[in-house]
Amino acid sequence: MARVCKPLAGAGSRGSLSHTTREIPLSRPWTDEREEELVLEVLRSGRLSLGPTIDRFEELFAERVGVPYAAAVSSGTAGLHLLCHIAGIGPGDEVITSPFSFVASANCFIFEGATPVFADVDPVTLSVRPEAVEAAVTERTKAIVPVDIFGWPCEIDDLRAIGERHGLRLIQDSAEALGAEYKGRPVGSHGPSAAFGFYPNKQMTTGEGGVVVTQSEDEWRLLQSLRNQGRSYGEGSWFNHVRLGFNYRWTDLQAAIGIAQLEKLDRILELRAAAARRYDDLLSGLGSVETPSPDTADHRRSWFVYVVKLAPDLDRTRVMEELRRKGVATAEYVPCIHLQPYMRERYGFSEGICPVAEDAASRTMALPFFTGIEPGDQERVVEVLAAAVGR
Ligand SMILES: Cc1ncc(COP(=O)(O)O)c(C=O)c1O
Repeated sequence: MARVCKPLAGAGSRGSLSHTTREIPLSRPWTDEREEELVLEVLRSGRLSLGPTIDRFEELFAERVGVPYAAAVSSGTAGLHLLCHIAGIGPGDEVITSPFSFVASANCFIFEGATPVFADVDPVTLSVRPEAVEAAVTERTKAIVPVDIFGWPCEIDDLRAIGERHGLRLIQDSAEALGAEYKGRPVGSHGPSAAFGFYPNKQMTTGEGGVVVTQSEDEWRLLQSLRNQGRSYGEGSWFNHVRLGFNYRWTDLQAAIGIAQLEKLDRILELRAAAARRYDDLLSGLGSVETPSPDTADHRRSWFVYVVKLAPDLDRTRVMEELRRKGVATAEYVPCIHLQPYMRERYGFSEGICPVAEDAASRTMALPFFTGIEPGDQERVVEVLAAAVGR
């Protein structure tokens, strides 16, 4: 049995919080004795890296997503970077991605010298609009990196059609979407290679880590070589480097945690979906707070975060300060990539490039959301939020 989430030790005595008020964190991993048991096995085995536990994890993960091959790497960013590297993305190329995402969605190809081009998102789903992607294609476009933002499956069929029309590579950033389904099949199984991430706020975590899923055995072998300093895969000398590679290796200790998390993934997804439904109900009377878009026939979200959008006349900074003052963690989720300081500096991006994403990013905020969140804590979050927005 997974342990019930406990309040953070000592949180109640910090700052202006009264001794009866616990801080409700934004996220929290969900682990139990099973992770400990499997980690201990690996520790005792002496095979801490490039060992059989990684192989086992890769098999289980591939099976779960419904793909023939999975290659584990040190992070979701590393996985995306390797896919961009394999796609041959380089200087002079443009790559189209979503502005409403985490910076890694763009950094993965900037590492290879390509220039980011941002296509605006849908105001409801916050997912990149295929029409905006097509409008952004130029003769220099090499690839598209769509994102399954907040666990919402991107329009992969439409995007693939655009890619085929213009001869573009497609690399799916599914870091936030393990367990989501598009047209009845798991995200990651629809063709384009995809990367998932296991940072502790994700549906399943291994502390750090990521995995690339692919339909191609050749690509899988290449990923195994590239993550391991370009070594030849399989037999051969440890010091036989057949290409320029990276150290994006994962460890068997993390794979052990990953196996335990995969074993309970269905339960994790159920609990997160139940927590999201609870927030939907609790927030239903708050007109000034827009809740995340509901599933459709083609899109089944995997709940990564619970992000609400405030009405335009509300002062988000003040609302967020009020939540924090009352012991409720919150965060702006997410600021637009193109407006990050390094993006403005490198490419001269400014406001107005993607008005829909910019408007959403100025009004969205994440509420505490994790697998073991207690219903009573969700009620408290909503009470505090309702007071902060003045209902
Ligand atoms: C959309 C998206 N892409 C990529 C990443 C990168 O994953 P990682 O932190 O494992 O490198 C994240 C992680 O938060 C993400 O949310």
